[in-house]
Amino acid sequence: MKKFDIIALGELNVDLLLNRICGFPEVGKEIFAKEMTLTLGSSTAIFAANAASLGAKVSFLGMVGNDDFGAFVKTSLEKRGVDTSNLIEVSTAATGLTAILNYDEDRANVTYPGAMSIMGVKDIRPEAIAEAKHVHISSIFMQETLHRDIYEIVKLVKDNGATLSMDMQFDPEEKWDFDYKKILPLVDIFMPNEQELKALTRESSLEKALDVVRPYINVLVVKRGSKGSLVVTKDGERNLPAMLNRNVVDAIGAGDSFNSGFITAFVQGKDLEYCQFLGNLTGAINTTAAGGTGAFTSKEAVEEAALKHFNQIIKL
Ligand SMILES: Nc1ncnc2c1ncn2[C@@H]1O[C@H](COP(=O)(O)OP(=O)(O)OP(=O)(O)O)[C@@H](O)[C@H]1O
Ligand SMILES: [Mg+2]
Repeated sequence: MKKFDIIALGELNVDLLLNRICGFPEVGKEIFAKEMTLTLGSSTAIFAANAASLGAKVSFLGMVGNDDFGAFVKTSLEKRGVDTSNLIEVSTAATGLTAILNYDEDRANVTYPGAMSIMGVKDIRPEAIAEAKHVHISSIFMQETLHRDIYEIVKLVKDNGATLSMDMQFDPEEKWDFDYKKILPLVDIFMPNEQELKALTRESSLEKALDVVRPYINVLVVKRGSKGSLVVTKDGERNLPAMLNRNVVDAIGAGDSFNSGFITAFVQGKDLEYCQFLGNLTGAINTTAAGGTGAFTSKEAVEEAALKHFNQIIKL
C-alpha cells in the first residue's frame, strides 16, 4: 500500500485577477479595476485539487517562496484536500504570480515565475516518489529548471516504481525543445492537446503527427476541446466525442480537469475506456462553472453536475 495515489509534481503560483478595468494600462498613468480576486493558479494545482475532489489521495511536490503568497498557496491546496507535506519552501525566490488583466473574452497576462522556475531534479527526494502509485507532471515549458532536467526527473520517477503521466502544455516561446524520442518511452500516459502535438511534431495534420510519435508512446491521449478526445496505443485508437454542454461558462482548465478524471480512474485500475469516459466527463463538467476548479468543490458537487448536466453516474 502506497501512502499517496498521485503526486502532482510541478508549478505553483497565485493568480491575481483584475476585472472591470477602466481602460488599458499605459506607462506613466494609473487606471482603476473595479474587481480583484486572488486565487490559486497553475495547471498542476488545478489538476491536483480536482483529482482530490474525485477522491484520489493527492500530494503536491512543488516549490514556493517563504512568503505570504507561499502560505496562501499552501492553505488553498489544503482546503481542497491536497497534502502539502512535499511542498518545498525556499528563501532564494519569491512565490510565482500571474497578474491577469481581464477584458471581456480576452486577457493580458504578466507572469513572474519565481520559485517555480528553480525546482530541478536535485530538489526531488526519491523517497517522496516511492510513496506514490503515480506521478503527474504538467507545464514543462513554464518551468525553466524542470524543463532542463526533464529526462532525469522522468527517470527518477520510473526508477522509484511509480507510473507517470505528462501534460506538456503549450510552449510560450514555441521552440518545442522536448526530446520525445528519448522521453516518451518512459511516460505511461502522454496527454497533450491536438495543437500542442502538432506543434511538437511540426506536422499540420493530426494523422501525420500521430504517425511521428506512435513508435515512442505507451498511451497517448489527445485532447480535442469540443471535439472530445482520442486515445492511442500501439494497437489502435479510440475517439470519444465530447459530452455536449449547451451552457458553457468557460473552458479555463478543461484540460486539467480532463487529466484529473482520467488519472483518478487510472490509479484505481480502471480500463482505458473508462479513463477516457471519465476524462471527457470531468472536462465537460469543468465548463459548467467558472475557472478550473469552480465545478469541483466536493465529490458530491461533481456527482451532482454529472447527473444534472450530462445524465451520467460516476463510478469510482
Ligand atoms: N465545450 C466543451 N464541451 C464539452 N466538453 C469539453 C468542452 N471543452 C473541452 N471539453 C472536454 O475537456 C477535454 C479537455 O479540453 P481541451 O481539449 O480544451 O484541453 P486543453 O486544450 O488541454 O485545455 P487547457 O487550456 O485547460 O490546457 C476535451 O478533450 C473534452 O473532452
Ligand atoms: Mg492543456
